[in-house]
Amino acid sequence: MKQKKKLVMKRPMKILLVLLVIVLVAIFAPMVYRNYYHGKLEKLGYSEKAIAGILKQGKQKDVLEIAYHKTLDQVFQSDHYDEKNFKNYQKIDGNEAISDLADPINKLLKKGYTTEEISAILRTGTEQSIQDFTKREKEEDILLMLKYDWAKLENYDRYVSYQIESREDEENTVTYVNLGLDQPKEMVITEYSETVLANRYRKLGEEYAPDKLTKIKQEYWKEKEEPETLAKVAARAFEQMAKDAGEQGYSLLINSSYRSYEDQQNIFDLYERTYGTAYAENYVSRPGYSEHQTGLAVDVASGNGNVFKNTKEFEWMLENAYKYGFILRYPKEKEEVTGYHYEAWHYRYVGKEIAKKVYESGLSYDEYYIRYLEK
Ligand code: DAL
Ligand code: ZN
Repeated sequence: MKQKKKLVMKRPMKILLVLLVIVLVAIFAPMVYRNYYHGKLEKLGYSEKAIAGILKQGKQKDVLEIAYHKTLDQVFQSDHYDEKNFKNYQKIDGNEAISDLADPINKLLKKGYTTEEISAILRTGTEQSIQDFTKREKEEDILLMLKYDWAKLENYDRYVSYQIESREDEENTVTYVNLGLDQPKEMVITEYSETVLANRYRKLGEEYAPDKLTKIKQEYWKEKEEPETLAKVAARAFEQMAKDAGEQGYSLLINSSYRSYEDQQNIFDLYERTYGTAYAENYVSRPGYSEHQTGLAVDVASGNGNVFKNTKEFEWMLENAYKYGFILRYPKEKEEVTGYHYEAWHYRYVGKEIAKKVYESGLSYDEYYIRYLEK
């Protein structure tokens, strides 16, 4: 009988084999481990750079328990990641527009800001204004101003000064300062937009022109010498509105529509000569500051009376204008904000959707724009 040959290894061979296994495990185990966590973190949505940071800091297990967190994703990408702030990072809402979040967060935490305050700083700030804020002494109660979505960190000092002076509440303070009411300075707008905000502080450049200036049907002109024109969308919206109003027995006409820079100059000069500068300033924009130059504003007249605010057409406009995309631009209770005396006749086209929201908000367009459209 043939006897089976037993595989007998010599002792040194055995040792060598064991060593080889140990070396292989030492090489491959960490790779398998890393790949395992890499895959899981990737699945959660972490970026490649953040995963590298998480693995480098050995935080993979903790992060997996938390799932995806935008701020964590950002701070783990940074060389400024600080382990002692790990819990705080999780309570802070990041801002994707800021390139290295970990650095300002660390500095602000060190100054004693709460995570809620830091979230507000990051939300309202720009790269520069956030960096500047980390360098100054700690401010108390910053949420009073910065809790508003439309607050801007770079305006923080102006909010504080304006409030002391004006005694307005925080909500108005933030709105009015953003509008420029605290330090009238010129801002020149050149690009056409249906929602453009033109007012005392936002000047339309001399070249600013409406989109597709269009003649309005002659039956709606109050005076028949000069054609009334508006930007095409506003012209068509007005005609529809006037037609519908007409069918209900209301006569809507146009007293004034698009006015060029020069037209506005002439009107201002005429008012100034006739009534004096203060009066003119109160009712007529200086050239470059008038909404009429946008081709989106219209002065409505009634076919049934001369003083518009005493006519039934005015009542109709108050209730219906927004349905066609028009808003009353200079309301009585908003004279301080708009800077103009109440004008029952001046309507501004902003589109149906926004007009409805402005109407329901009870805000002037200046306030609405700053709060909801500027950002
Ligand atoms: N009447 C308004 C303010 C204007 O002149 O534009
Ligand atoms: Zn007007």
